[in-house]
Amino acid sequence: MIIDSFNDNWLVLQQHLAEMKNSHLRDFFASDSQRAENLSVSACGLNLDYSKNRITLKTRSLLMRLAESAQLEKKRDAMFAGDAINNTENRSVLHTALRQQDNKPVLVNGIDIVPQIKAVRLKVETVVDQVRNEQWLGYSGKCITDVLNLGIGGSFLGPKIVTTSLKPYVQGGPKQHFVANIDGNHLHDVLTTLNPETTLVLIASKSFNTQETLTNAESTRQWFYDYGVTFDQLNRHFIAISSNVSKAVAFGISSDNVFPMWDWVGGRYSLWSAIGMPIAMAIGNDGFTELLKGAADLDTHFKEAPLEQNLPVLMGMLGVWNHNFFGCQTHALLPYSHYLRGFPAYVQQMDMESNGKSCQLNNEMVSSTTGPVIWGAEGTNGQHAFHQLLHQGTSVVPVDFIQPLVADHDMDGHQDMLVANCFAQSKTLMQGKTYQQAYDELVASGMDSVLAKVIAKHKEMPGNRPSNTLTFDRLTPYQLGTLIALYEHKVFVQGVIWNLNSFDQWGVELGKILGDDILARIDRPDNTELSDSSTELLLTQYRYANQSLT
Ligand code: F6P
Repeated sequence: MIIDSFNDNWLVLQQHLAEMKNSHLRDFFASDSQRAENLSVSACGLNLDYSKNRITLKTRSLLMRLAESAQLEKKRDAMFAGDAINNTENRSVLHTALRQQDNKPVLVNGIDIVPQIKAVRLKVETVVDQVRNEQWLGYSGKCITDVLNLGIGGSFLGPKIVTTSLKPYVQGGPKQHFVANIDGNHLHDVLTTLNPETTLVLIASKSFNTQETLTNAESTRQWFYDYGVTFDQLNRHFIAISSNVSKAVAFGISSDNVFPMWDWVGGRYSLWSAIGMPIAMAIGNDGFTELLKGAADLDTHFKEAPLEQNLPVLMGMLGVWNHNFFGCQTHALLPYSHYLRGFPAYVQQMDMESNGKSCQLNNEMVSSTTGPVIWGAEGTNGQHAFHQLLHQGTSVVPVDFIQPLVADHDMDGHQDMLVANCFAQSKTLMQGKTYQQAYDELVASGMDSVLAKVIAKHKEMPGNRPSNTLTFDRLTPYQLGTLIALYEHKVFVQGVIWNLNSFDQWGVELGKILGDDILARIDRPDNTELSDSSTELLLTQYRYANQSLT
């Protein structure tokens, strides 16, 4: 019985944990000069050094057995094949089909979806070329200089972060602006910089039902009206990307300007679809094609590589080892790259909205912890903000260091320092500093031994703190595609181990409903049913501060 095997393997890992509890990474490295060699793997231009995890080859073997007994390969193949693995919404999960490089059929409800994917891609490429080549003209006959992208969550984060990450490839084409928040300051500050004659608005919303995006779209439409633009002229300035074509048309967007996406693409996995249009607007269609190819190559690696050489499987299972066995409740992504500064936020949604759940596929509540809190920031900035906790805090935080090796600039000496800091931080987390080392250093520096005994205790660093280091030559569109797909599949692997549906997000629904309820209550102080004293107190404060609302 597979389930017994899974449980048995879990128990074996718990016993193995007991063996590992008193080991230290310092000793592992001191006793094996080949450790890094044996615990590194490269694929699709990515190099993963996972030797600074608290593991041995036996650990790796046991983790792979756990993955096998969770039927990881069978479930992976089911996803790629289009099975309705999103069971609560009865949907396939096929963001991988969006980047497929061949025309091999992928069936959803018996229909090959590849032709429609290619048709929409061609339509996107056509519009992108028209805009970038200044052939798309606004109502007054001027070309487009600015593209305003309205979306939130996966309809915002993907395009925004990829465009930011690929700045060296943003050449020609209109300037991209991204607005997500319902806070009017966001949209206001952007609109004041734009000219309606030369602005194209992309409304990105899979549901076309998201309050923030629709409100921002309505306010932007009013902005055009305020400049005297007529309803009929809006078609030169509004495009919608959505799976809800009828609602987009009802908003007033001509069907020609609606780019469909499909229910088998989750919002947090959608940048490969027409949602990625802003990326192509910024880096060109060829660049977007390279992004897709990188992701496709990583898909092939995930499908074909043996588990012990499989990047998403290794990262997923090491995450399970750190999280479920060593009890680490958060996971930090530290890209040592200014351009990747948004990447932690992107993976935050991808991971936490996918695996931040407690109900298993079989409707039973989980018996272990599931999705970790994902956070992070670019290096070296974090070293001057939160690395103190990483090195001496009571919480052990596994870290993914992400390091492009070749600079995109010619600032002398900067890349050497960036890389040296990245490698030093993972080394420091691994080896720490003993009390004796700290004491000896202080005495050698001239400090008297009594004070040195005091200070040394505060300078002691436990080390033995796990990290992965991912390196690659350059942050190209191709390489970014591999990196994003790597994390998508890492999340999938962990969802399989925790027996979750990683592709729905029921947890966000209630907040939206209560938000609408409270919104309706702001100017109705009398109506207090279903309320609570805290909400009433807060609403009273809001009304008082904005007297005109009462
Ligand atoms: O509320 C969560 C969520 O549905 C995300 O999954 C999604 O990326 C975001 O809101 C935006 O949704 P939409 O693209 O439908 O506007």
